[in-house]
Order: sequence, then structure tokens, then C-alpha cells
Amino acid sequence: MKRAVYPGSFDPVTFGHLDVIRRASQVFDVLVVSVLNNKVKTPLFSVEERVKILEEATKDIPNVEVDSFSGLLINYAAEKNIHVAVRGLRAITDFEYELQIAQTNRKLSEGRLDTIFLTTSLEYAYLSSSSVKEIASFGGDISQCVPEFVAELIYEKYRIQK
Ligand code: PNS
Repeated sequence: MKRAVYPGSFDPVTFGHLDVIRRASQVFDVLVVSVLNNKVKTPLFSVEERVKILEEATKDIPNVEVDSFSGLLINYAAEKNIHVAVRGLRAITDFEYELQIAQTNRKLSEGRLDTIFLTTSLEYAYLSSSSVKEIASFGGDISQCVPEFVAELIYEKYRIQK
């Protein structure tokens, strides 16, 4: 059984992430999409909310599981007996950051956690969770960026926070 983990903040999940999830789910028998519980960042959505959103957004893909983790990815992956991490690459600007994380994880795990990259489909290459939040915070149109139910939740957050 080939299992992989797709870690990320997913705050919120975008069509770019969903494109990576769908394609990775066709490569692996099981894909665990796992939300990082990062105490340093102040997210728009709580970890529990992000897990629920991801569950809803991936409910039509049977071999996708949604989970969350804290701490080092290599420890989480070892607990789950997973040896491959999946990440998406949008552009060359992602490469340096991703290369560093991938090399660090491989070194720290003594080769037990490798990383596989999928290049994001071109139509989503411009997308980022940060720009989606910024556009939404000014009332802009994010319908090309996230599923409709996610867009509603994002607008709702900004209304609540105002
Ligand atoms: O969606 P993001 O915020 O770009 O995802 C970054 C993520 C979650 C892949 C990365 O920050 C991570 O794995 N953090 C967990 C802590 C860790 O293992 N750090 C060591 C690698 S530098």
C-alpha cells in the first residue's frame, strides 16, 4: 500500500491545493492531507475548521484522509508509517523554499521521509491562500480561487471579525 502525506497550512484550501490533492490521490493508494497546527501563525480558520473544510472539499475522493499534526513533519510521518511527503510547486519562487524543507526532512529523518513534487496546473499557478484572504478581506471576488462553500466561510469570517 503506497501512502503519502500532503502537509500544509491550508488556511484556506484553494483550487491549487485541491488540484494537487486530486492528482496525488491518483498516484498513491492513500493520501493523508494533514493540517499543520502552527502555534506561531495566527490563522483565519482554526485547525478543526480547516480539517472540516478539507473533509468537505475532498469528500468525493475516497482514498483521501484528512488529519492534523503539530511539531515536526518527520515525527508525524514516522508515527503514521508514511515515507513520502507531497508538495505542490507553483513557480520557481517556491522551489528554493521547498527544496530546503525537503532536504531538511530527508536529512533529519535519515532518509526515511522523501518529498515528491507535483507542479501545480497552470490555471492555478497564481493562487495562494494569502492572496485569497487579502482579496476576500476587501470584498473582492474569490470564486475562481476556492470552492463556493469555502468562499462563503471566508467572507463570513471577515464579517465576524469586523
Ligand atoms: O502550507 P505551508 O504553510 O507552506 O506548509 C508548510 C509545511 C507545513 C509543509 C511546513 O512548515 C512543515 O512541515 N512544518 C512542520 C514543522 C517541520 O517539520 N519543520 C521542519 C522542516 S523545515
